[in-house]
Amino acid sequence: MKNSSVSYQAAKEELKRAVDIVELIGQFVQLRKAGQNFLGLCPFHSEKVPSFTVSPSKQMFHCFGCKKGGDIFAFWMAYHHVSFPQAMRDLAERYHVSLPTGTLGPLEKAKFELNEALLEINEIAAQYFHQLLKSSAKGEPGRRYFARRAIPAEIIDEFRLGYAPKAWDGLIKFLKSKKADLEKARQAGLIIAKEKGGYYDRFRDRVMFPIFNMRGQVVGFGGRVLDDSLPKYLNTPETPVFHKGKLLYGLHASYQAIRKSGCAVIVEGYTDFLALRKNGFHEAVATLGTALTREHIRRLKGYAREAIVVFDPDTAGKSAAMGSLSYFLDEGLPARVALLPGNEDPDSFVNKKGVVAFQGLLENSVPMFDFFIDRKLSEKTDYIENRVDLLKEIIPVLSELRNSAQRSLYTRRLSEKLGIAESALIEELEKWGRQRSWTARQNDLVEKVTASKAKRKDDLFLLNLLVNYPHITQRVINQDFRLLLSDPAVIQIFDSLAEMHAKEGPLPAAEVMDRLEAEDAKERLREAMLMAPFCDDNEVELALAEFEDRIQKIKILEAKKKALKKGDIEGLAKIPKLIRERWG
Ligand code: UTP
Ligand code: MN
Repeated sequence: MKNSSVSYQAAKEELKRAVDIVELIGQFVQLRKAGQNFLGLCPFHSEKVPSFTVSPSKQMFHCFGCKKGGDIFAFWMAYHHVSFPQAMRDLAERYHVSLPTGTLGPLEKAKFELNEALLEINEIAAQYFHQLLKSSAKGEPGRRYFARRAIPAEIIDEFRLGYAPKAWDGLIKFLKSKKADLEKARQAGLIIAKEKGGYYDRFRDRVMFPIFNMRGQVVGFGGRVLDDSLPKYLNTPETPVFHKGKLLYGLHASYQAIRKSGCAVIVEGYTDFLALRKNGFHEAVATLGTALTREHIRRLKGYAREAIVVFDPDTAGKSAAMGSLSYFLDEGLPARVALLPGNEDPDSFVNKKGVVAFQGLLENSVPMFDFFIDRKLSEKTDYIENRVDLLKEIIPVLSELRNSAQRSLYTRRLSEKLGIAESALIEELEKWGRQRSWTARQNDLVEKVTASKAKRKDDLFLLNLLVNYPHITQRVINQDFRLLLSDPAVIQIFDSLAEMHAKEGPLPAAEVMDRLEAEDAKERLREAMLMAPFCDDNEVELALAEFEDRIQKIKILEAKKKALKKGDIEGLAKIPKLIRERWG
């Protein structure tokens, strides 16, 4: 019998050869060339200055900010929140590499299989709702509804719109006929368990909007009533594959256009998205009836350089809570607000006035910061009260801004708008900063401590030397370079390297990294690999000599300490000679 773990390994290697990490990550993160590497804004933590690095030669990524990194699999797992086996499967499918059915750990396997099962059952349901809408007599109410909303067949097909019939067991019967697992359908939020046993359909007599992940798989649904009854929309509840606060409707279909223009337009509803799409506007995404979250904005950052949020006048009022403003500011994605006239939403507006008029609205959008401040200022007529209220709301937002350049920019803007001296605002900001919660300060502290750890320069320098000039490995091992190290993770790398080197001779750094077990050791080595070489060919000798010098000093100092401790006069007497011999 063929050993499946061996062929699993072979498939992994084949994938690594087939996939170019820059091309892969480039589909999700905007990258630009910087020297030998590519740089972008990290999709895994909030930053405004790119420290997310992708190396084509090493086929690795590493964020110098949050230290996340690894190979194509590590990226896929972190970006799509999937397990390693699923990452393998996704990539294999995308790059046409065939996979053996390898052996997984039991937990991973269970999670992987549940997700697959939920996607599969959502797919069956999507087919059912879509077919019903397209070609069943029972689908007539749905067809009439979409006709009334002027949604054409191409859109119905592209976004796989459907209709859930007016019945308690329409989907259930279909699932049974497909021999699908009803308990899985319940977990997918499609059907609901009755108290006395059995199930009933969650979605009844509604037009159905499948919701897709970035891979174009159906992860959930929104279902709209055909009349004015409530609730207007029913959505899939949270499931292992459906997270409202992370998903953006239509992003899987819009990301290329957004990438191209650099601008993402955020609307509120499925129908708004579809109406824009129908009119040839491809840069929209819709939230799923939730407020914008930090996750949404972070995701968009991978494609857009700026975002325009389209408000109808009604929601503009509700949203004046500044919630999303602080996320945009903090995530460093410039945001503007476009306002619709009267009682329109993007759907009704674009259908009546056309896409050119809609683009006009976008052109007239205003920076979100100014929008909120002006709106707040116009809320009350009492001049003083108004300004005090506004300050109460905006000061916390500003003081949370990590980027100090941006903070002072907005402070100046605020001072101009309010007619309050900038110095007074700064004072307020500082006062607020002092009051900030203990946890926030603790986090800052943690950040500072980790930053100072990263300053263990010798460790990194030595690793970097070794990675770029492997021929010095033996010399470094012979010379007790370990004495210079302070970072336990790097010490571990050195020890493993020495051991491997003794047994097998020189090994490529990537191989060494694969064999390291501790995550922090992998992280340090990756960092050293992805940094530009600290010195060039003709400086290596000099650097080594300097290090060796310092090692000697340390050794002599230690000998001195030992001699002193033991009262070893003879040993102590030798020290000056040792020093003279070496440094003259
Ligand atoms: P809207 O009430 O603006 O609906 O809600 P809409 O998109 O304009 O829908 P139409 O044009 O009346 O058909 C905006 C979004 O909020 C969510 C949905 O995602 C909707 O698209 N929503 C709204 C719900 O989840 N539940 C609701 O009851 C209402
Ligand atoms: Mn609408």
